[in-house]
Amino acid sequence: MLPLMVATLLLSSASALSIRCPHGVADLSITRNGSSLYLDGKRWTASGANVYWLGLDENVIPPVGEPFYAPYKASYPTKGRITEVMTTLNVMGARTIRSQTMGVSVGNPLSVMPELGRVNEEAFESMDWTVYQARKYGIRIFAPFTDNYDYYHGGKFVFLRWRGIDIKNGLTGTRDPKVQEFYTNRTIIDDFKNYIKIMMTHRNPYTNLTYAEDPTIFAYETGNELGGPKFGDKDVPVAWTREITEYIKKLGPTKLAVDGTYGINSAHLNISSVDIFSDHFYPMDVNKLSKGVEAVGAVDKVYFAAEYGWTPQSQTISSIDQFFAWIEEQQKTSKPIIAGDHFWSLFMHNVPDCSAFVDHDDGFTLQYGNPKNPTNYTAQISKIQQHLFKMQGKTVGAAMPPAPCLGKSEDLVLGLGLECGIRGKREVV
Ligand SMILES: *[C@@H]1O[C@H](CO)[C@@H](O)[C@H](O)[C@H]1NC(C)=O
Ligand SMILES: *[C@@H]1O[C@H](CO)[C@@H](O)[C@H](O)[C@H]1NC(C)=O
Ligand SMILES: *[C@@H]1O[C@H](CO)[C@@H](O)[C@H](O)[C@H]1NC(C)=O
Ligand SMILES: *[C@@H]1O[C@H](CO)[C@@H](O)[C@H](O)[C@H]1NC(C)=O
Ligand SMILES: *[C@@H]1O[C@H](CO)[C@@H](O)[C@H](O)[C@H]1NC(C)=O
Repeated sequence: MLPLMVATLLLSSASALSIRCPHGVADLSITRNGSSLYLDGKRWTASGANVYWLGLDENVIPPVGEPFYAPYKASYPTKGRITEVMTTLNVMGARTIRSQTMGVSVGNPLSVMPELGRVNEEAFESMDWTVYQARKYGIRIFAPFTDNYDYYHGGKFVFLRWRGIDIKNGLTGTRDPKVQEFYTNRTIIDDFKNYIKIMMTHRNPYTNLTYAEDPTIFAYETGNELGGPKFGDKDVPVAWTREITEYIKKLGPTKLAVDGTYGINSAHLNISSVDIFSDHFYPMDVNKLSKGVEAVGAVDKVYFAAEYGWTPQSQTISSIDQFFAWIEEQQKTSKPIIAGDHFWSLFMHNVPDCSAFVDHDDGFTLQYGNPKNPTNYTAQISKIQQHLFKMQGKTVGAAMPPAPCLGKSEDLVLGLGLECGIRGKREVV
């Protein structure tokens, strides 16, 4: 791939021409003290967006000759699409991206691990670019390492299948009790830990940092919406959650660990290696939110509303105004506990084509600035933007300034220029 070759060329000739940069805030880790997060000595909030497709997408058929796995419609997103996410989230006031495919990449030919134990280096390219661009735009990332469902990017069913446990209805959940072997079978646990090690020890050529070292990835989640045989049962063993979160911190001592159980499992609250507990909201529900926050606050940990459906149809219990107002009120207290919320989910243009938006069919696609958005959607997006700034302690009006779409990936690589806060710098232009 051309962009990778260009990057390698720039890296190899960087030393002679490199300049010194002051120690940047991008080099500092997000830390937790009790139920608050901190950056550079100041309280830090983590609100932002889910952008699940940054490592591997399923919504665009690439030009002939580009990597494409037709059965799952899987392809790597262009660099331009990834960069546009960063410029957009910057304009929206977001600080954080949660992304499934920045942590889950198993079981198809375009995955980091297509088959048990085999590593496909090419799959890191879009992930590396994502981390590098997030770092440049001051955005932080967290990602789950597996998924409760059998989606195109893989998840726990792939690890089970690799060891001969083939469960078919993994997309909607399953009642097959064998599914618990993902959490209990020593061979499978060790396979999963080996995969985590491959991810966290991978060195990103754009930053010359491993994912374990780079504070841009401030946290890893054990998984997405994890449970047991029955949907929503929160049946994730304490021992497994403890072992996986301890392992994440062993490989990345400055990483925060998120319990990936779907909902708050009270038996997990005293696992010392978990920093953050979370829940998802379809629909938004202030009552569920306040109960979860209270439980997590009682053990002095941090809470994320790590997914919420943002559209009008996701407001059958609480309105988006009530949901945001409750979260914002907490920020004024001495112990807010909830440090972030993340809408599901962002899509932007089909870059390098900056005129067409990429669509996704789950009913929650947020396309910032799409002139075709219905009025009720535009109003919601404006509220989200105002909320994201409020979470940073800033007030903005309802107007939504445009987000730059930078176009061709070649331009992105060659036009980087001088940047501080990036190690392994690319000062050669
Ligand atoms: C953590 O917070 C407590 C209480 O607010 C404070 O006393 C303590 O000094 C803090 N610890 C660190 C390492 O900042
Ligand atoms: C774990 O899975 C392996 C591979 O399928 C199998 O040989 C082993 O018996 C399982 N162990 C337990 C304790 O079920
Ligand atoms: C954690 O809480 C459970 C009850 O939920 C209790 O059985 C266990 O002893 C506690 N463990 C520690 C280390 O406090
Ligand atoms: C949002 O607007 C669309 C298009 O005008 C309309 O069809 C839809 O019913 C509205 N949804 C809600 C929940 O208001
Ligand atoms: C990248 O980091 C490694 C490990 O810290 C170091 O040995 C190497 O010299 C660095 N490479 C560049 C190009 O800075």
